[in-house]
Amino acid sequence: MKVGLVGWRGMVGSVLMQRMVEENDFAHIEPFYFSTSNAGHTSPSFGGKTAPDLISAHDLTSLKHMDVILTCQGGDYTSEVFPKLRRDGWNGYWIDAASTLRMEDDAVIVLDPVNLHVIKDALNNGVKNFIGGNCTVSLMLMGIGALYQEGLVEWVSAMTYQAASGAGAQNMRELISGMGYLRDGVKPLLDNPASAILDIDRQVAELQRGSGFPKANFGVPLAGSLIPYIDKQLDNGQSKEEWKGQAETNKILGQTGANITPIDGLCVRIGAMRCHSQALTIKLKKDVPLNDIEALIRSSNEWVKVIPNEREASMQDLTPVAVTGTLSIPVGRLRKLNMGNDYLSAFTVGDQLLWGAAEPLRRMLRLLIE
Ligand code: HSE
Repeated sequence: MKVGLVGWRGMVGSVLMQRMVEENDFAHIEPFYFSTSNAGHTSPSFGGKTAPDLISAHDLTSLKHMDVILTCQGGDYTSEVFPKLRRDGWNGYWIDAASTLRMEDDAVIVLDPVNLHVIKDALNNGVKNFIGGNCTVSLMLMGIGALYQEGLVEWVSAMTYQAASGAGAQNMRELISGMGYLRDGVKPLLDNPASAILDIDRQVAELQRGSGFPKANFGVPLAGSLIPYIDKQLDNGQSKEEWKGQAETNKILGQTGANITPIDGLCVRIGAMRCHSQALTIKLKKDVPLNDIEALIRSSNEWVKVIPNEREASMQDLTPVAVTGTLSIPVGRLRKLNMGNDYLSAFTVGDQLLWGAAEPLRRMLRLLIE
């Protein structure tokens, strides 16, 4: 199977290549590397597999020779190249991570531990476009997807704590630069145990509000603060990120019309590196015992972990620091809320670059190979 790889050098692409090497995916494919800037140069040899020199990512003739195009190049590339390929009659599989095609009728959002049946039905029906979901949506479903699938959920409110990586590699750098800028700015006071904390605090605020603070990418300081808005502003008061919660979750689950589960909440950027966290309020359709809920979640896939609703376990195992760089999806803080026994709280964390981006794509490729 000829697989054209585009955007493999970027952040998500690099995580994807690393995972494909770890899972020996290259043994099953014939890779062709495409590039927007370096055509003609030597290709990498991930997984020990050599490939022809880099091909231009805009060379439609070469792209059309691929059985599969797997791209992490981003939405602009998809918008430009995908329609041309299809117009020219290319009938291969398109796998990408951009939101461009996600909600199209002829595209399936892939998250196979949750919606393998939807993917398989689509393959049987000749669907050729398989798109990775929004990271927050995928991570939420990896954690509590079983509750939806068992028909237990009336609605969900998701309040998110999203990492810098979701905004891009430059934003991750800017977050750390901002942290350093603040620390360096108050170093003499920090080093002096006798200094007054309110002096440190005042200086930090001055630095954050000053013109020297590194904020070219986020637009406002993130270090020592937060940003209560992610993605574009919509006319209905939601941000685009908040809109995706209901739209994509229901599409992934194959729920339409009267079966749509309402999902809404606020999406907030915080100073984590690459793990998105979410505080969920789940309105259950009935009073399900907590033990049953935990058992359902625990058995839903091999990556989810139920964390006991205890202080120490939550502090150790339910944080971006605990999860970063791993496929683990801890779900904790599970308890019934004061509002009633059919109101459940949950907190979940996941690596935005792994299950939130690269992993569903490589698993989709494997489904095509098998
Ligand atoms: N939109 C997400 C974020 C990342 O900004 O965190 C991509 O799904």
